[in-house]
Amino acid sequence: MKILVTGGLGFIGSHTVVELQNEGFEVVIIDDLSNASEDVIQGIVNITGKKPLFEKIDLREKAAVKDFFKKYNDVAGVIHFAASKAVGESVENPLLYYENNISSLVYLLQELKEKPEASFIFSSSCTVYGQAEKMPITEDAPVQAAMSPYGNTKQIGEEIINDTAKVTNISAILLRYFNPVGAHPSAEIGELPLGVPQNLVPFITQTGMGLRQELSVFGNDYPTPDGTAVRDYIHVVDLAKAHVIALQRLLNKKNVQKVETFNLGTGTGSSVLEVIHSFEKVSDKKLPYIIKPRREGDITEAYANTDKANNVLGWKAQLTLDEAMSSAWEWEQKVRNK
Ligand SMILES: NC(=O)c1ccc[n+]([C@@H]2O[C@H](COP(=O)([O-])OP(=O)(O)OC[C@H]3O[C@@H](n4cnc5c(N)ncnc54)[C@H](O)[C@@H]3O)[C@@H](O)[C@H]2O)c1
Repeated sequence: MKILVTGGLGFIGSHTVVELQNEGFEVVIIDDLSNASEDVIQGIVNITGKKPLFEKIDLREKAAVKDFFKKYNDVAGVIHFAASKAVGESVENPLLYYENNISSLVYLLQELKEKPEASFIFSSSCTVYGQAEKMPITEDAPVQAAMSPYGNTKQIGEEIINDTAKVTNISAILLRYFNPVGAHPSAEIGELPLGVPQNLVPFITQTGMGLRQELSVFGNDYPTPDGTAVRDYIHVVDLAKAHVIALQRLLNKKNVQKVETFNLGTGTGSSVLEVIHSFEKVSDKKLPYIIKPRREGDITEAYANTDKANNVLGWKAQLTLDEAMSSAWEWEQKVRNK
């Protein structure tokens, strides 16, 4: 069965391609290489022994998307990762985000609605909850006004899919990720941000390598046990496996609604200092960091209630924060020592 993975050379996409191939799916990747390298294909081959098909396409090009579905008319399902994801950049350049994250989604759905049936998995985010009132966060917690154009593209994306599924043969699962971290245990693939990392874990591992002088911890006066902000860090391999399970649910018509939504997290919150200490433990290195004032727009805490994913999908995160930090560290060292 052939599955299209858009953004399949990116961080979460590449790990998902590995899990799909391990489960016997044939994968075709679309990626425009705007935030990934073609070398990732070799990493996937080294892990799975199988080379995914690859088409270098910019999904903002409607005609190219149409041509793709003419060429690959046997695609049974789509996992849509391709998007721009830097929150700060989205504030500076909102139209880039609305164009990339919304047009690409619309063009894909326009092609899928022509098929007798279609299964669609969408990368959403816990940013849709903003600072939720109750922890842990359940899927029925209210969606709050987005704090950035990036966050807004996830909310609008969910609405577009809901509206489209009502009147087409498209069934969809919206996966709201908490904080994906780590790398494949083989260190063949991992997160490789361009420029200064936006996320905590690559910033930590780059600081560990000496590429960054020190890590800034924004705020130690939050109402949390140690005063630093709390998030739910989920190992990317666990996250990737959830995509395969969600896809199988749609392909096997086990879904009970046209559009279903699941939180993907561990269910446990970890503070910034806990993440730093986990890194120090697994790397046996002291991490230089300084405490800075809170950053505008940062929330205090967010961690998932994972009951729905556990009970309905039959998926549960297996890997620990230490395993995630250790794999991220292995990957960073391998990349830098090449
Ligand atoms: N990483 C996170 O913290 C996180 C959290 C929540 C949600 N998400 C969402 O998950 C998805 C994947 O995230 P990621 O961390 O793997 O990001 P990533 O940047 O590593 O992967 C995205 C991939 O999509 C490609 N891409 C972007 N625009 C494209 C276009 N127009 N046409 C074709 N390819 C294009 C990029 O080259 C990249 O390889 C994104 O939708 C992101 O918004 C990520």
